[in-house]
Amino acid sequence: MTRPSTYYLTTPIYYVNDSPHIGHAYTTLACDALARFMRLDGHNVMFLTGTDEHGQKVEKSALAAGLATKDFVDQVSQRFRDLGRVMNYSNDDFIRTTEPRHFRSCQELWRRIAAGGHIYLGKYAGWYSVRDEAYCAESEVVDGADGQKLGPGGAPVEWVEEPSYFFRLSAWQDRLLEFYEANPDSIAPEGRRNEVISFVKGGLRDLSVSRTSFKWGVPVPDDKDHIMYVWLDALTNYITAAGFPDTESETYRTFWPADLHMVGKDILRFHTVYWPAFLMAAGVAPPKRVFAHGWWTNEGEKISKSVGNVIDPLQIVARYGLDQVRYFLLREVPFGNDGDFSHRAVVGRINNDLANDFGNLAQRVLSMINKNCAAQVPDPGDPSEADRALLAAAHALLGRLRAEFAAQAFHKVLVIMWEVVGQANRYVDEQAPWALRKSDPARMATVLHVLAETIRHLAILAQPVMPEAAGRMLDQLGVEQGARGFAALGPAHALVPGTALPRPEPIFPRYLDDS
Ligand code: MSP
Repeated sequence: MTRPSTYYLTTPIYYVNDSPHIGHAYTTLACDALARFMRLDGHNVMFLTGTDEHGQKVEKSALAAGLATKDFVDQVSQRFRDLGRVMNYSNDDFIRTTEPRHFRSCQELWRRIAAGGHIYLGKYAGWYSVRDEAYCAESEVVDGADGQKLGPGGAPVEWVEEPSYFFRLSAWQDRLLEFYEANPDSIAPEGRRNEVISFVKGGLRDLSVSRTSFKWGVPVPDDKDHIMYVWLDALTNYITAAGFPDTESETYRTFWPADLHMVGKDILRFHTVYWPAFLMAAGVAPPKRVFAHGWWTNEGEKISKSVGNVIDPLQIVARYGLDQVRYFLLREVPFGNDGDFSHRAVVGRINNDLANDFGNLAQRVLSMINKNCAAQVPDPGDPSEADRALLAAAHALLGRLRAEFAAQAFHKVLVIMWEVVGQANRYVDEQAPWALRKSDPARMATVLHVLAETIRHLAILAQPVMPEAAGRMLDQLGVEQGARGFAALGPAHALVPGTALPRPEPIFPRYLDDS
């Protein structure tokens, strides 16, 4: 037997300074849909998420909460795990940067970088944004209200002067540009890739990679006065979970380099400039691809704690339903673009796409089978031209979706699936199986079989985005657990006539507006 191909994908690890919000839920959701798709498509998948627990921002939040830092990070990290359960994420591992395995990995990566002569001791004197955990060049800093200095993202910056180790990033400009050139898919979408290339072409300054003014971090090997810069620590999580520094281990050899790091657009530079440079300096292969998605606003406004319009994923799931939220977030916005979360838009998607289009299709067909075919899968009979056209569209779906998942075009996946939903709905209207019940029951059975087969395909393929709802739809079609992977798509695994079906229950209820 040939070994299945492997796929390693990661989310950013989330700062534990505060509770998870929709932005965090979104990044992990996109990865979850992709991980599920790849598993159903027969790949050996490792899907990683976790929490980023060091640095000044987290330390300050713990202080403000009046808790010991470790107790605070334990509490907040747990909220991210809890969110994972509510959102039905299928991650294979959950990494915390406070774990021993991660200290070991960071320190070994540091040693390898240092052994190559890429680190030197100096002094950092410049601006630092605690909110972004980022150093800012003088040229990036602007004056805000009350004389407060602000960094490029609008976050306050403070002047820092301290002994620091530096990574010779300036020496990596050409090799990074060569890497981007040789690996055109390594940064997506295209516009983001161009941004990174022009940033690197503009010249790179050496990067401060250690701090001495506080202690909440991974100690630098052989120099107890320094802890590692939180971004060097955080990025390393991706190889820690793959088993680094045990580079001979089965996991590491199977999964590194990662196939995809999914990130938000705000943290692209860390992942596509610093991270590959650190890795290359240590003699480790860089990740194959980084995709930067856009940001959500709330009813047209930037989401911010000070405005008080942060969207709590637990609340929206309680209000609209889990798979409804999963569908909305992936369907509403072309993945990579910014998007707006509004009550109207969510209700529109629930009532139109889910209740009217898909839900109604399944409900109509399953009820007719229940009433008119003795609640059993009907006999396929001889297919007509129209039957064949609909089935061909259903059979063609997997190939089309594969291409879109490979490009992380989640919205297109759903648009393509809904083309077939629409085609099936038109087919029901044209074939009018209810009118055939008396005049031509054999033809009615054929029509209902074609429709049930189409729904089977749609439900199997909907599992990555809406695992629970699609699973219930497959239950109603009598599809066994072992026949829900993509290997079961196509005519060879068609529903078997005579299989008893349970009583159909509506899967996507309408949202009755309460606002
Ligand atoms: N800890 C770093 C990542 C380290 S990865 C080695 C970090 N954490 S974060 O918690 O601040 O953000 C994590 C992710 O949430 C980022 O990808 C960010 O883009 C995303 N989002 C935060 N707010 C968002 C929106 N309003 N909309 C969409 N995503 C947003 O950065």
